[in-house]
Amino acid sequence: MSHNFQRSPGVVNLRLWENAERASNYVAHQIAELIIAQQKIGESAVLGLATGNTPKAVYQELVRLHRHDGLSFANVVSFNLDEYYPILPGDKNSYNYFMHEHLFKHIDIAPENIHIPQGNCATDAVSELCSDYEAKIAGVGGLDLQLLGIGRNGHVGFNEPGSTLDSTTRLVELHPVTRNDAQADFGSLDRVPVQAISMGMATIIQAKRILLLALGERKSEIINKAINGAITPEVPGSMLRHLPHVEYVVDREAGAGVL
Ligand code: GLP
Repeated sequence: MSHNFQRSPGVVNLRLWENAERASNYVAHQIAELIIAQQKIGESAVLGLATGNTPKAVYQELVRLHRHDGLSFANVVSFNLDEYYPILPGDKNSYNYFMHEHLFKHIDIAPENIHIPQGNCATDAVSELCSDYEAKIAGVGGLDLQLLGIGRNGHVGFNEPGSTLDSTTRLVELHPVTRNDAQADFGSLDRVPVQAISMGMATIIQAKRILLLALGERKSEIINKAINGAITPEVPGSMLRHLPHVEYVVDREAGAGVL
């Protein structure tokens, strides 16, 4: 284990792990510990969940803990960060599909406790869906733990460059870098949706704890910018860095330029 961790005000909380597996296991075990701690006091654990390649090994470890160590998700309430718009929930590229494939269908979470923005909501109902999403999060006492990845342009969730700290759940336009990165999944650029529904920066930072996971060499440039560059809405991931409840959990490759 090789990590460096600081928790002083104004200092970035950075956990640097020697490889992706250790970084992912750390995150999975933080989530599992929260779930168990909440079970002990008879409370739910409210999780903010992310999609993409980055959290896949986290979900794999959580599934392993469920199957082999008896970790129950019966007290978990989940809220996903975002969803493409428009998209059908059953579409293989939807985040709804991703979450069921990688996590939900393998564990004992109650279906009614799963929340993902509805990608096939009617256009004139989107703004109500967004305010309902905020109200539902507030109604269960807020997010206990938010898991985040980071896009190569610094986006968190689908809070693209330009997103301010007061933004809430809303319909957003996807950035060209984001659509470009998604084209392999969709088969071609013109099939990638141009919009998405995303929790806002304000929604995210209200979580009691935030773990931003970044893995691999392709994230090293943006992680360096987020941690050492200007704090700016142009790099949404940079705006989290002095918040005491945020940890950047990074493997050696993604963290190569940071220290
Ligand atoms: C998508 C998601 C983000 C995610 C990002 C990075 O755009 N909306 O939540 O963090 O991609 O994806 P990956 O982990 O595949 O690099």
